[in-house]
Amino acid sequence: MTEVKRRALIAGNWKLHNTVEASLGLVRELRDRLKNQSHACDVAVAPVFTALHPVAGELRGSDVALGAQDAHWEDEGAFTGEVSAMLLADVGCRFVIVGHSERRELFGEKDADVQRKVQAVLRHGMSPIVCVGETLEEREAGETLPKIKRQVSAGLEGLAPEALARVVVAYEPIWAIGTSKTAEPSDAQEAHAALRDELRDRFSPEAAETVRILYGGSVKPENAAAILQQPDVDGALVGGASLKPDSFMAIIEATR
Ligand code: PGA
Repeated sequence: MTEVKRRALIAGNWKLHNTVEASLGLVRELRDRLKNQSHACDVAVAPVFTALHPVAGELRGSDVALGAQDAHWEDEGAFTGEVSAMLLADVGCRFVIVGHSERRELFGEKDADVQRKVQAVLRHGMSPIVCVGETLEEREAGETLPKIKRQVSAGLEGLAPEALARVVVAYEPIWAIGTSKTAEPSDAQEAHAALRDELRDRFSPEAAETVRILYGGSVKPENAAAILQQPDVDGALVGGASLKPDSFMAIIEATR
């Protein structure tokens, strides 16, 4: 089979940070710096819901794609507090993070919810960034690979192989998120290769080759290059280090 070159994606997950004004300041700086600097990857940012619409206006025509941090699967209806994939597409989102471990662990999100969200995001023409990852306890018990394979299969259940080209997967070991601990590059590669094997088995060898698999969990300028060099690591989902233009730009640079 011919080798597929996957373009790296560096996506910033801003979590619950930044007012509208702070969000606009951050994207203006990123947009302007990226305009003056060639880069070898796609770039996306996922601000809080209240900042999406103004940030979309600021990013129009730029190289930075807009993402959201979650989506509801129904388009509209009596679902107090939810924001649907349809409405995210309406404000110009191109990516939606789905099944982040904070959603799963703190808000009780289940694989079946993740699957419905993935379908809704794809139905509205956007790309889901489907997050999977193990706890420290699971890693120590040798359960990492079975768990993440199970999560990715459940999240992508029912998709046609053609739909896979728009799917992004993020491997985020839970013990590495916001802790300054990162997986060893070789551990990340092992997990990413296992995820790609699972996609190969479930869908097709061709489809599995097209899916970008990002690493997430304390990615910083200091560790980014070693992780991003791994053959099955196609970019990063960056939390803390995406909140400062200097560190986010340095990670973007590390994809070269
Ligand atoms: P972190 O977060 O980079 O702050 O560890 C990553 C994430 O949760 O997506």
